[in-house]
Amino acid sequence: MADRSAKARWTSPLRRRRGPGWAEQEPTWRAARPALIADALKRASARPSGNWFVAGASRDVRPGGPCGRTVGGVEVVLWRSESGELRGGSGVCPHLGAPLRDSRVVCGTLVCHWHGLALDGAPFAGWQPYPVHDDGVLVWVRLDAVGGEEPTELPVIPERPAAGSGVDAVYSGVGRCEPQDVVANRLDPWHGSWFHPYSFVDLTVAREPRGEEDDAFAVDVSFRVAGRLVVPVRAEFTAPEPRTVVMRIVDGEGATSVVETHATPLTAEGDAQPRTAVIEAVVATSDRRGFALARAAAPVLRPLMRHTAGRLWRDDLAYAERRWALRSTGRFPG
Ligand code: FES
Ligand SMILES: [Fe+2]
Repeated sequence: MADRSAKARWTSPLRRRRGPGWAEQEPTWRAARPALIADALKRASARPSGNWFVAGASRDVRPGGPCGRTVGGVEVVLWRSESGELRGGSGVCPHLGAPLRDSRVVCGTLVCHWHGLALDGAPFAGWQPYPVHDDGVLVWVRLDAVGGEEPTELPVIPERPAAGSGVDAVYSGVGRCEPQDVVANRLDPWHGSWFHPYSFVDLTVAREPRGEEDDAFAVDVSFRVAGRLVVPVRAEFTAPEPRTVVMRIVDGEGATSVVETHATPLTAEGDAQPRTAVIEAVVATSDRRGFALARAAAPVLRPLMRHTAGRLWRDDLAYAERRWALRSTGRFPG
């Protein structure tokens, strides 16, 4: 019975749109001032990260085996102890240099496959652990030599929907660029409905960042679900640390859902051919009553989840790579 009354209250989040076509929409290039984006990037870059880097999704580090990553040119290995706790450290075996990403985990101990050196996560035979953190969605590693900042005990983790109330998904991609190129792409919300018309329409920037005190973009945008069917929302973009941009739905369907874009350098700073991983976590939620989250929220939030999928990231990485290509050859117009 309760279910039926809940159904009666249910209204579709979908709207039928009758807006202008792609070529008729208002150009955004005058509003998207290069200096404004550059200033927002500069402020983001100056925030402390505590030398923490996102290494991947929590579920990438399975109990059965190690997970190898290269961050800032440093080989890192991650694994789980018998109780499931995250362990991590140098990915180079201290004996003769075997790649520990190819070793085995036996009862929570990492065992090198070349000569059997065993690591339980504590310093041993010249091997050093790195501080690691599992926030439930992402795993982080602290590399003080790479970050060069004052280390902090924990990474800067964006506020997310309460644990268990959201559906999360993590996507990764790699681009030939530096982290700042990925962040700069995210700090240009104006490109949304021009560059990604298949996903976004009717995008307007309702509020620009006003400096350190109020450093957020507010964006009104409709996610295109299919054809003319759209889901209008207001989203806020912030950069809590130098390599993270968070998009939070603040009004409309899925309010409080977040898309966190993390840019992790794979190559060392100053590398002539830098590569950066984009690790994007979507934590989507819905307060729709009377429906099981998985059933109700997933289809409704699919446009948001899709924000991260295939085509969007191909285009955004092309933007970031192009920015790097111009910057590195002195041709950047901004
Ligand atoms: S190289 Fe790892 S034990 Fe020899
Ligand atoms: Fe984009």
